[in-house]
Formats: sequence, C-alpha cells, structure tokens
Amino acid sequence: MKALLLAGGLGTRLRPLTENLPKPMALVANKPWLYHLILHLKDEGITEFVIAVKHFPNMIRQYFEDGRSLGVSIEYAVEHKLLGTAGAIKNAEPLLSDRFLVVNADIALDFSLVPLLDFHISHGGGVTIALKEVEDPSQYGVVEMGGNGLIKRFVEKPDRGKAPSNLINAGIYIMEKEVLSWIPKGREVSIERETFPLLIQHGVGVYGKQIHGYWLDMGTKERYRQVHWDILKQKFTMPLRGNESENGIWLGKGVNVGKGVLFVPPVLVGDDVQIGDRSTIGPYAVIGNRCVIGSRVRCTESILWDGCRVHNGAQLNHCIFGRELELGSEHILYEAVMNRVSGGDDH
Ligand code: GTP
Repeated sequence: MKALLLAGGLGTRLRPLTENLPKPMALVANKPWLYHLILHLKDEGITEFVIAVKHFPNMIRQYFEDGRSLGVSIEYAVEHKLLGTAGAIKNAEPLLSDRFLVVNADIALDFSLVPLLDFHISHGGGVTIALKEVEDPSQYGVVEMGGNGLIKRFVEKPDRGKAPSNLINAGIYIMEKEVLSWIPKGREVSIERETFPLLIQHGVGVYGKQIHGYWLDMGTKERYRQVHWDILKQKFTMPLRGNESENGIWLGKGVNVGKGVLFVPPVLVGDDVQIGDRSTIGPYAVIGNRCVIGSRVRCTESILWDGCRVHNGAQLNHCIFGRELELGSEHILYEAVMNRVSGGDDH
C-alpha cells in the first residue's frame, strides 16, 4: 500500500514561517516534520510514498529526492494550481496503488496503522477515516456515527456543546482507488466539505475508526508551539527518535557551552551550537543546528530554526525564529514570529 502525503497547501495560518516554505517542511525538533512523518510511516511498514506538492515544490523534492537516503521510494505529484485536499488526491491518481493511505502532512502524529488497516479490510467500504477524540471539537470537522463504524454525516466547526460527538476527522484516510471517480478533475475540491459528504450521500461506505496515540494538527502558531512543548514534556517522543535527555536537557553534537550557562529544563539544543558565557536557555527552548548564541542571552519558551544568531544580552520570550535570523545585542523580543524572505522563486 502506497502513502500519499498532502503537502501542497499554502499554510496561511503559519505565516510568516510558511511564506517561503511548504508547511510540512517546518522544523520540528530541528528536522522538517515531513522527515519525521516518512520515517514513522516507514516504521509502520510503508515504503512507497507519493508526495502531492504545490507551494515551493522544489524544496521538498530537493530535500527528499527519490527517498533512497531514507530507505523508501518517493514519487511526486505536482499541481500547477491549488487543487484542494481532494483535487490533490485526484491529481496523484496515476501514481497510486489500488488501496492507499492519505495523510495530511501537517499533522504531528504517532499512531499505529495496523488497526486502521484491519478495520478497513473488514468493512469492505470505499474509505476509512481515522478519527481522533478531542476535548473541544468546535474547531474541527466532527463526525456523527451510525452503527458498525459507518459515518452518517460531518458537521464542520460546530458551536461549542452542539457537536454530535467528540470525534474529529484526523486527516488520515485509507481509500480504495475506485472512489476517485467521485472527484472531478482539474478544479479545487475539498475532501472534507465536498467529497466525503457526496460519498456518504451515495452510500459508498465511508467508515470511521478511532486512533489512539499522539495527534495534533500543527497548522497554527499556537499548535506548532504546542507540538514542541509536548516533545519537551516527552508526551510526544517520536521526533526525538530515542535520544536521551539528561534531566530534561537534550544537547546535540558539537555544542560549545560557555562559562556559567544556565539550562533551565526542558531544553533541546541542536548540533554545532555555540552558547556564550552566562546565558540562560529555557525553560521550553528549542535551539536549531548551527545557532550562535552570545553571552548573557535569555531565551525562554522559544523556538529557533537552524543558523540563527542572537547577540550578547538579547532576550527572546515566546518567539519563533525562522532560519538564519539575527537578533541584535541587548534587544528584547516578546511573542515575535519572524522569518526572512529569501530565494525560492519556484511557487
Ligand atoms: P492554511 O492556509 O493555514 O489553512 O493551511 P493549508 O493551506 O495547508 O490548508 P490545510 O491546513 O487545511 O491543509 C491540510 C493539509 O492538506 C496540509 O498538509 C496541506 O499541505 C494539504 N493541502 C491543502 N490544500 C492542498 C492542495 O491544494 N494541494 C495539496 N497538494 N495539498 C494541500
């Protein structure tokens, strides 16, 4: 079974980080999320991938190429205009297997595929949608279930307290290729708003199965931060891939720590990072590879991507910095999400 990863959206809610980057390439624990996702699915037995790309497609292609370096095979379905979540699947049709997995590539997850696949095979319908139970479903597409796991209808973003259940569409599907005949070609189509309701209306057999394990749609800045805090709290350990912390402090290779540096856990520091004397890092700080942190810097509740430079005496509080940004000496920032527009004319 092949996996189709939907990675072409504009990611407007994560701007400016996604201004020049496909959202699934946003760094999570210092690696593109898509890298973690592919390795996780490989652990679940998937070795053949199709990535549906549109926004800065070459960034994804250049990073993963044909997948060989990760021990998988990767093909690309390129869209020349935004086709939406179902339109992207339709566009990838010639590359897909008779039965395939679809994953929204911006979902941070750690779940087991086998129960979902077993259920799909047992009911014999066209689609199985992974469902996640959440406390407050009002921001999501909520399902109303019939008997035997059949989905009766979807309610998009119901008012608080009016949802038919707490089970939401987790953005992970197993599909039979026949159902693609229900998706029109060459125009934008949303799977949540158009295709699934149409399939339900025509009795094609859309089933839902609850998944367990970590799940978070990291499409907003709050949730993108939350994914990192969950990693640091070890609620979501998969992106650390077995790296052990020393009392909540993860230090990469080649880290140069100055005199009197205070790490306040939890803290994750990438490779080849320099930290100047008497700086305080944490709590809740993620420092990307090759960052250079001056002396007397304070960095709390912040995420820095690779190659940032923070000069002496600067302070970062609750910030997200894209790649290779610089903060001047003695500057103080609160709640800044920053990025630099550079290169990339391929969107
Ligand atoms: P927002 O603009 O912030 O809503 O983000 P988005 O454009 O990524 O949309 P959304 O979060 O709903 O997308 C869910 C997943 O589907 C993400 O992984 C997107 O990359 C992907 N996706 C959304 N629209 C398209 C599309 O037109 N083509 C492809 N290939 N993927 C898409």
